[in-house]
Amino acid sequence: MTSDAAAQADIGVIGLAVMGENLILNMASRGFTVAAFNRTVSKVTAFTGGRAVGRTIVGAGSLEDLVALLKPPRRVMLMVKAGAAVDEFITLLTPLLAPGDIIIDGGNSHPADSTRRTRALAEQGLLFIGTGVSGGEEGALTGPSIMPGGNVQAWPAVQPIFQAIAAKVDGGAPCCEWVGPEGAGHFVKMVHNGIEYADMQMIAESYQLLRAAGLSAPEAGAVFARWNEGELHSYLIEITADILSKVDDVTGQPLVDVILDAAGQKGTGKWTSVAALDAGSPAATITEAVYARAMSALKAERVAASAVLSGPAFAAPADREAFVEQVRQALYASKIAAYAQGFQLLHLSAQDAGWTLDYGQIAQMWRGGCIIRAAFLDRIKDAYDAQPALANLLIAPYFRDAVHGAQGAWRETVAAAVRGGVPVPAFSSALAYFDAYRSAALPANLLQAQRDYFGAHTYERTDRPRGEFFHTNWTGRGGNTASTTYTA
Ligand code: ATR
Repeated sequence: MTSDAAAQADIGVIGLAVMGENLILNMASRGFTVAAFNRTVSKVTAFTGGRAVGRTIVGAGSLEDLVALLKPPRRVMLMVKAGAAVDEFITLLTPLLAPGDIIIDGGNSHPADSTRRTRALAEQGLLFIGTGVSGGEEGALTGPSIMPGGNVQAWPAVQPIFQAIAAKVDGGAPCCEWVGPEGAGHFVKMVHNGIEYADMQMIAESYQLLRAAGLSAPEAGAVFARWNEGELHSYLIEITADILSKVDDVTGQPLVDVILDAAGQKGTGKWTSVAALDAGSPAATITEAVYARAMSALKAERVAASAVLSGPAFAAPADREAFVEQVRQALYASKIAAYAQGFQLLHLSAQDAGWTLDYGQIAQMWRGGCIIRAAFLDRIKDAYDAQPALANLLIAPYFRDAVHGAQGAWRETVAAAVRGGVPVPAFSSALAYFDAYRSAALPANLLQAQRDYFGAHTYERTDRPRGEFFHTNWTGRGGNTASTTYTA
């Protein structure tokens, strides 16, 4: 443990859990000197005497030691549990730092917290960055996707470190760029996680349909391995193929068949869904993925209900290969719709917050390092690079053509699932999103009439300019006064 106060370290990292330790080792491997601290100080000595031996990593016995070890402007990165721990460390650090010093939060913080912290620290002359870091343990060590936002004045001092440790794609482009002000970095990370929920659920629905069609777990695994060679090429498809080929040591069965079907969640999918509701952004497929986990968690109730409620049996397809291809196309089209929802949410929320985001750059940040990394993100980057103000991915020529090509199979797959009693909430909500988004007319005229009928909420007319509101006395009993108290 060093306390000689020689300001030698490029950055200080607080929090020696899985992500913190691996990020420090990554930074050291890129030539940076890192000072390390942890609330439970025994973890510092365990680290400096263990994995950190022989590397440019210096342990600190206290926050004062840590700060004394840092070159100016001091860069302190928190890799601690999101929530109160971040605020506690900020409170402890603030009196130890000088104006122009930088506090970075690399945990899974709520974007609203990062907005609040950016503003509060700016008032004290300190620069705050809230950054998403995705890629799990291995990504943190070898190259994560890093999504920083907050006080842009801090970026020049942090950029060389972050871009050095981030994943690289296309011969060297880092999966790390400045995202935007305030909580924009954590917002983008949150939406990444929401999309991840949708991606995983859509893969799970594909898997269930393949099993319903008679494929064994390893046979389904071989199908995913094949799909991974094409336009679905991605980390999640790759690990799904791997998972399905794994045999349980205890029973000799496919391991997936002995894993209980009750999914956990840490809440970032829910945050994304809440953000979508707040922004009025129809991210139904992401939200269905959150609900699907909630439904799965009601295992005991489902087991009981399965003895009471019945439905049709799934009819084995006449042509299994053709069915498998149909499911692949349904997965691809649903994935496009889910990503369209995620980017639409970014777009509408950024508008509300007054942030300007670069969607092509966001796609590039997700291209490598993170859980949703996929070849497909290159096409998203191309679409936004070609049309930075693109309203929706579905109308970009590449994705329009892709969805047009796949929609027959998509509809057949959803229809087969509905007929055969297999729940496909992500597939079917994605298809409904596509059908609604491509509809010039929706039945919301009736909703408006109903709202005006019972609450005098008024409506606009198709034969009048937008913004003119009308009220009808539908029953002859109500008055002619329109409601102005609520418009929702
Ligand atoms: P992971 O999920 O990767 O294990 P985490 O739970 O998000 O990590 O974060 C764990 C880190 O947050 C640890 O460094 C932990 O410190 P300890 O090793 O002392 O437990 C830190 N941490 C959690 N709660 C904290 C708090 N209230 N104050 C300070 N540090 C805290």
